[in-house]
Amino acid sequence: MDFNSENKLFDYVRGFTMDFDLKQGQSSGKTTTKRFLSQMKGMFADEEAYRKILEEKGDQLVYEFHELGVPEDAGKLSFGVSICYPGKVGDEYYMTKGHFHCILDTAEIYYCFSGHGYMLLESPEGDWSALELLPGKALYVPQRYAHRSINVDPVEPLRTFFVYGADSGHDYGTIETKGYRKLLVDDGTCTPKIIDNPKWK
Ligand SMILES: [Fe+2]
Repeated sequence: MDFNSENKLFDYVRGFTMDFDLKQGQSSGKTTTKRFLSQMKGMFADEEAYRKILEEKGDQLVYEFHELGVPEDAGKLSFGVSICYPGKVGDEYYMTKGHFHCILDTAEIYYCFSGHGYMLLESPEGDWSALELLPGKALYVPQRYAHRSINVDPVEPLRTFFVYGADSGHDYGTIETKGYRKLLVDDGTCTPKIIDNPKWK
């Protein structure tokens, strides 16, 4: 029971609580935004494999995440759960589109609570790393780095809880146009390996 609270969801003035299911990551307070394979045209290296999946299996849910609509004011925080589903397009694992923040000098925190994956980080100058995500691991995305979650588990969705400055903004366009310099692919033995992105511009 709360004390001296109006129990109002999204009360950015006096505070609020919100549930996120520890197993599924869903919330009764807000449904997720969903990204289907058809919305990720051009993001996977193997375009033939991409086309084939859509043709033969139909559209697939690749990931979903919470957009709470927190007012984009400096000082406020936005948060939610991101769920990236298992799957591959060719050798490339299912992943989120990835983005820079519009205000480049803003960091973000992710906390993994189920699955197995990686966060691919890349700066505009080309520095990169791929940090492994396992349940119980928190991950710090530094200022200036684009970030993309990648699910390398064949069965379990990768679920993370994230928090970032509400005024950071999302720049998806740079990655949509240029891509990442590196890709995480299955090496053929269900082990992830890093390769250069043949489509990087
Ligand atoms: Fe972000």
